[in-house]
Amino acid sequence: MTDQPHDPELVPLRDKTLAAITAATDSDTLEQIRVSCLGKKGSLTGRLKELGKLPAEARPAAGAAINEVKDALEEALAARGESLKQAELALRLTGEPFDITPPGRGFPAGAPHPVADVMEELIDIFTSLGFAVEEGPEVETDRYNFQMLNFPDDHPARDMQDTFYVQDGRRLLRTHTSPVQVHAMLKRKPPLAVIAPGRVYRCDSDVTHSPVFHQVEGFLVDRRVTMGHLKATLELFVQRLYGRQTKIRLRPSFFPFTEPSAEVDVSCVLCGAKGCRVCKQTGWLEILGAGMIDPNVLTACEIDPEVWGGFAFGLGVERIAMLKYGIDDIRLLYENDPRFLGQFA
Ligand code: DAH
Repeated sequence: MTDQPHDPELVPLRDKTLAAITAATDSDTLEQIRVSCLGKKGSLTGRLKELGKLPAEARPAAGAAINEVKDALEEALAARGESLKQAELALRLTGEPFDITPPGRGFPAGAPHPVADVMEELIDIFTSLGFAVEEGPEVETDRYNFQMLNFPDDHPARDMQDTFYVQDGRRLLRTHTSPVQVHAMLKRKPPLAVIAPGRVYRCDSDVTHSPVFHQVEGFLVDRRVTMGHLKATLELFVQRLYGRQTKIRLRPSFFPFTEPSAEVDVSCVLCGAKGCRVCKQTGWLEILGAGMIDPNVLTACEIDPEVWGGFAFGLGVERIAMLKYGIDDIRLLYENDPRFLGQFA
């Protein structure tokens, strides 16, 4: 046995590699150096693999010598790697043109659907005027949807063309929110001020009609209620909705459940009542049906029309939303096209 290390090339290999590490000026070169000695086929890895071929008594010292070199190289690689990384970062931050002015990438924001948005606004306005919110079933009986609301048996609105009947033939999808009046009057005693927002159904479909749409019904029952109360309430409502300058006018009309009945127009919100395509040059837009609750309805709901009176009104939410946003085809509200809905974000 001699004191000679078994591998005379080990120390020169170490020194040569350490020198190369110090000389390396970029991470890629450093990585190549690492692979050449410590990689799977690297010179040190090879030597470790060959250890088995040495005589048993020579192995510990030879192994220790190789591992010592390996540790030294790994340490040098790590240190050099770290300083190169710092240097490269510093160079990128100072040297490379780095444009901090472009706009950031925005996150797409959701938005309420225009119908939901308007619905909420209507509910806010009426609740602030003291109306309570009630809901009723969407599947109704002929009794609540028509009979109790004073529709004669042969009224055309009962026709299959307008009404969706449920297959049992006894029930139907409510054609308006007015039956909630009946539910509320039977459930509670006057004085009453209630609005009923909700979905309604009609067998009807074109640019201004959808088979499913939304209405807000409103009614008030108290002593000595006059048409003046109705007009003032609706005036307050439209001024909150469209602004203080908005005017209303009542035109005589007919509904089975009100007497007298009126169609309510607002001064055109698009042209300021000057006359435009949407108001057909009249300066007025029809947005509501209204009237004084027919005594027959009160009686059917067990309210004495000699003591109590009331007014009622009903409006279409889609129509209000279409006027508010200048939408000319109701179907846009139901196609869920993100290009359309995205405009309300
Ligand atoms: N229910 C009516 C409709 O769907 C709207 C309506 C008109 C409701 C007049 C009312 C009213 O309460 O007084 O066309």
